[in-house]
Amino acid sequence: MSDTFSALILTQDNAGKTIAEVRQLTNDDLPEGDVMVAVDYSSLNYKDGLAITGKGKIVRTWPMVPGIDLAGTVLESDSTDYVAGDQVVLTGWSVGEKYWGGYSQRQRVQSKWLVPLPDGLDSQRAMAIGTAGFTAMLCVMTLEDAGITPDKGTVLVTGASGGVGSVAVAILAKLGYTVAAVSGRPEGEAYLRQLGAAEFISREEMAQPPRPLERQRWAGAIDTVGSTLLARVLAETQYGGCVAACGLAGGADLPTTVLPFILRNVSLRGVDSVMCPVAWRKKAWGRLVQDLPADRLGEIGHIISLEELPELADEIIAGRVRGRVIVDVNR
Ligand SMILES: NC(=O)c1ccc[n+]([C@@H]2O[C@H](COP(=O)([O-])OP(=O)(O)OC[C@H]3O[C@@H](n4cnc5c(N)ncnc54)[C@H](OP(=O)(O)O)[C@@H]3O)[C@@H](O)[C@H]2O)c1
Repeated sequence: MSDTFSALILTQDNAGKTIAEVRQLTNDDLPEGDVMVAVDYSSLNYKDGLAITGKGKIVRTWPMVPGIDLAGTVLESDSTDYVAGDQVVLTGWSVGEKYWGGYSQRQRVQSKWLVPLPDGLDSQRAMAIGTAGFTAMLCVMTLEDAGITPDKGTVLVTGASGGVGSVAVAILAKLGYTVAAVSGRPEGEAYLRQLGAAEFISREEMAQPPRPLERQRWAGAIDTVGSTLLARVLAETQYGGCVAACGLAGGADLPTTVLPFILRNVSLRGVDSVMCPVAWRKKAWGRLVQDLPADRLGEIGHIISLEELPELADEIIAGRVRGRVIVDVNR
């Protein structure tokens, strides 16, 4: 094993601007933790884009190795739960924000953050799913928990060409739901239909400020966008429907009224992947093996290197990335 390895490091200059560069590190540079992982793959999520570009206050300690998820093989372990050679996956727990994350060929982490890589997945597929796909699964499980079965009607997915959205469309279609996809990219309609969307709706149409109640169209929805678009989704959700909200790609505000809740029994359920309990994590990863078709993942993901991350970070924040970006840290 070589003494040095590559990692993307974020620092701040005197003006507070975030600088991203690939540097060589040694094991002594790594933070404390009871497991050292040889990272195979990480991925690029919207939050990583905010961290690398400095456009969102994501990074809480400097310098930072970003990357909110990783998959790889245990190199050394002081934990009784893992031994060298185990394959593991990590998402959330403020990794890549407060603790060093996945954009490194090696990382030292807490064993309690890890999940064994489920049978049926390799590390590349795990990161094709990544935090975004894992969150999409949590959103689907939230709708199921609210009783939204395929016979109840159409389920809407917003920000559908993005990472969470693409995986959500593919899972819902596989489970037999009729899926409507909202996207700001008309050129992406064929892609979304290939993933299983039966209906394509323009973001422009959905972003119009709604009346407090609109025509009832959706049995459920997975929203990655927030703001006025989420307000419209709520106003259009049918009696007894549920909206699983996980994102803010369009803004953190929510200009709505209580009418969908008190007159239509609509529920708005929040979905968080970062502090999600371990038992749910294991369940969600198991469901991803079962309910996300492997061929769909191939269409959703493409692979980049550590060096390409700063450019792709700009792209994801500009809303120009389609599907999932897998980071091969050894490329
Ligand atoms: N709660 C959690 O634990 C959790 C976990 C993962 C992600 N998230 C959040 O979920 C959101 C999506 O994450 P992601 O990784 O899938 O990001 P992503 O790949 O960038 O996807 C976001 C999508 O939202 C749409 N969009 C972008 N800007 C928009 C705007 N101004 N107005 C309306 N739609 C816009 C775009 O889809 P179209 O081009 O198809 O419209 C874009 O592809 C982010 O806000 C992220 O922070 C939350």
